[in-house]
Amino acid sequence: MHTPPSALLATRGLDKQFAAPVLRGVDFTLNRGEIHALMGSNGAGKSTLCNIIAGIHQPSGGSLLLEGGRYQPASIRDAEAAGVRMVMQELNLFPNLSIAENLCFRQLGNRAGIINRHTLRARAREALARLQLDDLDPDLPVAALGVGKQQLVEIARVLAQPVKLLILDEPTAALTDPQIDQLFLQLDALRQSGVGVIYISHRMSEIQRVADRVSVLRDGVLVATETARDLDIDRLVHLMAGPAMVHVPATGATPRPSGAKSRPPPGAVALRLEAFGRRGAFSDINLELHRGEVLGIGGLIGAGRTELLRALFGADSADSGWLRLPADGFSHRHRFRSPRQAIAAGIGLVVEDRKGQGLLLDKSIAMNISLGKLPQLHNGLGVVDDTAITRNCEQLCDTLEVKRDSLAQAVNQLSGGNQQKVLIARWLLQDLDIVLFDEPGRGVDARAKLRIQQLIRELAARGKAVVVVSSETEELLALSDRVIVLSNGRLAGEFDANTVTEEDLLAASFRYYSQGQQGRRPAVETSP
Ligand SMILES: Nc1ncnc2c1ncn2[C@@H]1O[C@H](COP(=O)(O)OP(=O)(O)OP(=O)(O)O)[C@@H](O)[C@H]1O
Ligand SMILES: [Mg+2]
Repeated sequence: MHTPPSALLATRGLDKQFAAPVLRGVDFTLNRGEIHALMGSNGAGKSTLCNIIAGIHQPSGGSLLLEGGRYQPASIRDAEAAGVRMVMQELNLFPNLSIAENLCFRQLGNRAGIINRHTLRARAREALARLQLDDLDPDLPVAALGVGKQQLVEIARVLAQPVKLLILDEPTAALTDPQIDQLFLQLDALRQSGVGVIYISHRMSEIQRVADRVSVLRDGVLVATETARDLDIDRLVHLMAGPAMVHVPATGATPRPSGAKSRPPPGAVALRLEAFGRRGAFSDINLELHRGEVLGIGGLIGAGRTELLRALFGADSADSGWLRLPADGFSHRHRFRSPRQAIAAGIGLVVEDRKGQGLLLDKSIAMNISLGKLPQLHNGLGVVDDTAITRNCEQLCDTLEVKRDSLAQAVNQLSGGNQQKVLIARWLLQDLDIVLFDEPGRGVDARAKLRIQQLIRELAARGKAVVVVSSETEELLALSDRVIVLSNGRLAGEFDANTVTEEDLLAASFRYYSQGQQGRRPAVETSP
């Protein structure tokens, strides 16, 4: 196959086989100074292709060329030595090391184990400033950051090194719009300087903004490479889904799963928060959750949204205020000290960081979905009723279209989006009264996202109280009946999802980051 002179990287007839073939005869070319988007459904092979280029996996067949020469990285180190670097889909930081140590990890042991803290910090600051993260304290442990900030630190870490070919595997899944703008500025600068970038994303709007060309993978086959400018969304969806699929949403916009106007008024109060707070995370939250209602929570990354959900779920404890529950007629003050207590009270949490907190990666799909449900699936003899588990799990996996060989397959063999679906399936099986979702659409493709949104709406229709945190305004509005906004840990607004505008949400998001916030009580606004 002819490779153009401007080609930075080319793959020829690349094959990869795990249990089944995952990549088949892939001829992919990346030019210098090009941002090349890689698209395709969950499980299509995007991460696998990039993992091979980055030296994480070795191909089963075919070859790679870098700047015209044979390129066979046997490890990440090999790839990095050749100037190929990847920001992985799953976070790859050391949670207990500080931001500075993570950023300068390679330099850490250089001088006989003596670390110059001052230099380290200065280098870290420089790397952080590139992504406008000047306000981050480089001495903080990475574990103290939310997933969005961790993602940015990861990107900063990779950009701090010299790079010829940069791979970003869904870098924006946990980022807010201003952070995405910042990242795109960086990418532009890299493009100007001749770096080649492979950019994986499920978001069409981003691709059209940032990419020069788009390649589409379907079931491990590269079905097309086209100029981004010329590619309309209908055609892209058609390429990704293949001829067999119909009824795929044709635009980036997600239709609201059920008619907003016809929705019944919210039901009884399922949970009441009174002056609920956790030092350093959020404070003075007064709020009611209703049965049959989806409550959306907006705000910037780090505003305290994830922390609030975690405290409701008992994963972290609140240290001020309390919860009141209908079970005791709202007469008792509750604070959960563990998820076990929260689950007993009927509350479940679908976390955003599936790797760190959600899944037992080396265990089977069936095990991961039925976790927590096992005691109820015992039959009269005390033996786990396998048929019941299997039936339930198969059904959920079918509904969510989890791409799998069998239910016995370990979760770490699934693609990122399919792992997310397993996590969601687990909580759907639980049948709790209150379900909290943290970024449910993160990393799943457009079809799966719509499915998940439908399932969330169905939960509400069945009388559950549902809470959804999402950084994507579109998703937030598509899902919610009511939206609240957290700003710097405080309740900065409450809106009807049918009438609220993006400007309303943005204004509320920034409210308590401005000067003079000390000691002021949040003025909660309700739209008419
Ligand atoms: N270690 C592994 N063992 C077995 N199968 C694997 C392994 N890693 C990936 N696969 C399979 O390879 C296929 C492609 O996965 P890959 O992660 O490349 O998909 P992807 O396009 O990145 O999807 P997503 O959008 O969900 O991230 C999937 O069907 C997945 O189950
Ligand atoms: Mg992937």
